[in-house]
Amino acid sequence: VTHEKPFSDASNRNRGPILEVLRTRFADRREVLEVGSGTGQHAVHFAAAMPWLRWQCADQAACLPGIRAWLADATLPDMPVPVELRIDAVEGWSRLPRTADGDRFDAVFSANTLHIMAWPEVEALFAGLDTVLADDAVVVVYGPFNDAGRFSSDSNRAFDATLRARDPAMGLRDVEAVDALARDVGLVRTDIVAMPANNRCLVWRRVAA
Ligand SMILES: C[S@@+](CC[C@H](N)C(=O)[O-])C[C@H]1O[C@@H](n2cnc3c(N)ncnc32)[C@H](O)[C@@H]1O
Repeated sequence: VTHEKPFSDASNRNRGPILEVLRTRFADRREVLEVGSGTGQHAVHFAAAMPWLRWQCADQAACLPGIRAWLADATLPDMPVPVELRIDAVEGWSRLPRTADGDRFDAVFSANTLHIMAWPEVEALFAGLDTVLADDAVVVVYGPFNDAGRFSSDSNRAFDATLRARDPAMGLRDVEAVDALARDVGLVRTDIVAMPANNRCLVWRRVAA
């Protein structure tokens, strides 16, 4: 039985601009772990456009059938089977994924996840990167962010209110707070790219301790 392919409008809109960022940042990368693949639309788009990458999808169990459906239709060569990953505030990562060769990943990508996860889960996400990332890994996170508690637009302020009404643990994160978590696992921010609709890409590189 083929699972119906879930569809996200936002993912379709932002994939072009995100690809432009990833093309250069991931130009010399090989093994990408995507945290919170969602529908799987990003994965098939990015893997097809950057065939030098091996793109490993990961998300919670409920998302896996949809991701598998997108991957099955895309028939991309060398695409690993999506793995179940749940990041828990207390337990941390439900598994520490490895590449097909059993190595650490030299790149991680995650879109629109940090405002969905509760803050302790965001902390656990970055803590887990310590044993998932190779020494010189590059990490790109896409989404809406605040600067020291300030919204960058009215639309982001409204979005944050919608999130908090849904679940008080959700909400936009401060760039500074996320940077601090990244620093704890040896990640130094190399750039921050303004994206359409008041989103941004935060880019870090891991430096040897
Ligand atoms: C708003 S969706 C974004 C999906 C996709 N990256 C995109 O941009 O279309 C947030 C994703 O984060 C995942 N997620 C949220 N909390 C998580 C957690 N604690 N552990 C693992 N995944 C989580 C959800 O399952 C969901 O797929």
